[in-house]
Amino acid sequence: MDPSISATLRRFLLTGRVAVVTGASSGLGAELARALAAAGARVAVVARRYDRLVELADDITGLAVACDLLDPAQVREVVPRVAAELGRPEILVNAAGDIFSREPAEAEPYEAMRRTLELNLIAPFRLSQDVFPHMVAVGRGSIVHVSSISGRVGFPGFPQASYAASKQGLSGLTAELAVQWARHAIRVNTVAPGFFRSEINDELYDDERFRTWLRSNTPLPSEACIDDFVGAVLWLAGDAARYVTGQTIVVDGGWTAR
Ligand SMILES: NC(=O)c1ccc[n+]([C@@H]2O[C@H](COP(=O)([O-])OP(=O)(O)OC[C@H]3O[C@@H](n4cnc5c(N)ncnc54)[C@H](OP(=O)(O)O)[C@@H]3O)[C@@H](O)[C@H]2O)c1
Repeated sequence: MDPSISATLRRFLLTGRVAVVTGASSGLGAELARALAAAGARVAVVARRYDRLVELADDITGLAVACDLLDPAQVREVVPRVAAELGRPEILVNAAGDIFSREPAEAEPYEAMRRTLELNLIAPFRLSQDVFPHMVAVGRGSIVHVSSISGRVGFPGFPQASYAASKQGLSGLTAELAVQWARHAIRVNTVAPGFFRSEINDELYDDERFRTWLRSNTPLPSEACIDDFVGAVLWLAGDAARYVTGQTIVVDGGWTAR
């Protein structure tokens, strides 16, 4: 290790720790996996698109784990596989998520509600259950859920009721798990992004009216890039945040501060 790195900076390093990152085939999850690996973690990357995961895993010397998080049986196979091939996970980042309905709340189909909650809330909960015994055995752990400011504020013109409910649900889950698992030194936090261009919203960014609306509603002057998001998760993953638990940290350029 570089001897010039001070003890304070060293607390951000994740040398040798095993991490699981869902949603790592694109967008925020892919960059989070790269950031954790750059900090020294051995990272298992999880999503459905296996070819992308293999490419990323090759780059970061990680492990590609194909999984449809809407299938509970597949979810249950993730952590045992990671533990067998990389070792006990100490870090779990639940970044996978999607929106299944753009209908107004009064018309949201039941199936969209069910799938939204299954992917955005239940899968993160079940993966948290699965890493729990490993974190207990290691004597520490950090779980970070990726939610959304949609869980905090409504967006006129962008109906997303079940998505918002699932994301705010992660904050409730976070506080509860943080309190239940604190005695094992397992920390649980959520990071709520504002707007970052990725596959989930790519089409919107092609519309100049959307970009203008975004600029006029975001207090910080520059358009966000995904690198502006990863620092908060990196901080929460390691010892630099070892006294932080149960929190929802918002990374939105000040959107919800207005
Ligand atoms: N970008 C933003 O502005 C923004 C804002 C607020 C919140 N968020 C949240 O941030 C997280 C990351 O989103 P993103 O912007 O990076 O979007 P993205 O590029 O669309 O990434 C979504 C990820 O979730 C995975 N995923 C979706 N359905 C899955 C399933 N059934 N099983 C396994 N993996 C699945 C996708 O992988 P596969 O398709 O390969 O399975 C992909 O890796 C999401 O939870 C999203 O709700 C994003």
